[in-house]
Amino acid sequence: MQFIALSEAPRLLPQVARWYFDTWGRHVPGMTLDDEQVRLEVFLQQDELPLLLLAVHDHEPVAAAQLKFHERTERPERLHWLGGVYVDQSQRGQGLAARLIEDLMARGRAFGVRDVYLQTERNDGGLYRRLGWKPLEMQMHASGVPVRIMQRTLSAAE
Ligand SMILES: CC(C)(COP(=O)(O)OP(=O)(O)OC[C@H]1O[C@@H](n2cnc3c(N)ncnc32)[C@H](O)[C@@H]1OP(=O)(O)O)[C@@H](O)C(=O)NCCC(=O)NCCS
Repeated sequence: MQFIALSEAPRLLPQVARWYFDTWGRHVPGMTLDDEQVRLEVFLQQDELPLLLLAVHDHEPVAAAQLKFHERTERPERLHWLGGVYVDQSQRGQGLAARLIEDLMARGRAFGVRDVYLQTERNDGGLYRRLGWKPLEMQMHASGVPVRIMQRTLSAAE
């Protein structure tokens, strides 16, 4: 298993867009698969944030996670967000999401990122709580589902 930035393998963009659309995009009124592809183009810039990290196995993508800006906008001071965490069905339950997220956070630290926010449908925080995210308030997702906002401070020493 290899972890690489989407910017290093742009040919994999359509597969990632398909995952995101099937999981979330299709629930957002008016959203299309094309829109999802266009939204991912921002991750094709090299050596800067935002960053989409992929787990690749036998040249095929099997997981994705993003470190990006302002996934939600009601609190502009919340700059950096973890989002788009997705693991292919066949690879779930083996700690892959956790490993990918930790690698992504290490890369974020190298860019000077300190506070990282996320939104999850899991009220108990699930995996994210285990990785050090703390629960904040509830908000509404664009798809109409209530989500828990969470925050983690990356320590420079980690
Ligand atoms: C959530 C997901 C990324 C987990 O991937 P994974 O490689 O199986 O994760 P890991 O093996 O590292 O960790 C599994 C843990 O994630 C938890 N989990 C499952 N869905 C979760 C969610 N939406 N939010 C937080 N934690 C979640 C599981 O309960 C499990 O917890 P446990 O270890 O305490 O039993 C994967 O199930 C997936 O892609 N789901 C569809 C997309 C999705 O819901 N993404 C999360 C958006 S917030």
